Amino acid sequence: MTDTTTTTASGSPVSTVHTVTARTDEDMRALGQELAGLVEPGDLLILSGSLGAGKTTLTRGLGEGLGVRGAVTSPTFVISRIHPSLTGGPDLVHVDAYRLGGADEIDDIDLDATLHDSVTVVEWGKGVAEELSDQRLEISIERHPDDTRTVHLHAVGTRWSHSELPGHAGRR
Ligand SMILES: Nc1ncnc2c1ncn2[C@@H]1O[C@H](COP(=O)(O)OP(=O)(O)O)[C@@H](O)[C@H]1O
Ligand SMILES: [Mg+2]
Repeated sequence: MTDTTTTTASGSPVSTVHTVTARTDEDMRALGQELAGLVEPGDLLILSGSLGAGKTTLTRGLGEGLGVRGAVTSPTFVISRIHPSLTGGPDLVHVDAYRLGGADEIDDIDLDATLHDSVTVVEWGKGVAEELSDQRLEISIERHPDDTRTVHLHAVGTRWSHSELPGHAGRR
């Protein structure tokens, strides 16, 4: 059993969350690059955290690690952008759901069409992108006054095993 959700003796679910500290934006990029070594086609990453938390910075590192075309940016008007792989690996589909009204509108951008062959990252995806897959990595970024960040990685489903995820494992 590799699910990160286990149950206690009383039967209530206990989730394992991995925690990583990113002191600088370079650390955040490096975390993205590390994740690039773990992801596979079909993976869905849901990113949350306030404006400026570092969601795009993390995704940029992921794109660099995957070896995809084009720099990952925060476009003003584009909601979803496909970065094709230059290395024979999966494409990166980068979604910014900030302007989306909710789960209905995420249906309109038809992520199902690319989900299985790509790595899909949805910024501001919490509460809107979960329905895309029951296997996903939920990443939330906490920004601290000293500009360091705490990154929480929570695997949902059996796809991700505890041992492969970066950071310190703890329960919540
Ligand atoms: N420890 C850190 N981790 C990530 N970003 C940081 C950090 N310290 C400073 N920054 C800066 O914060 C900003 C994060 O922006 P961005 O990644 O676009 O955030 P988001 O996509 O969450 O709105 C960048 O300008 C980055 O250089
Ligand atoms: Mg962003």
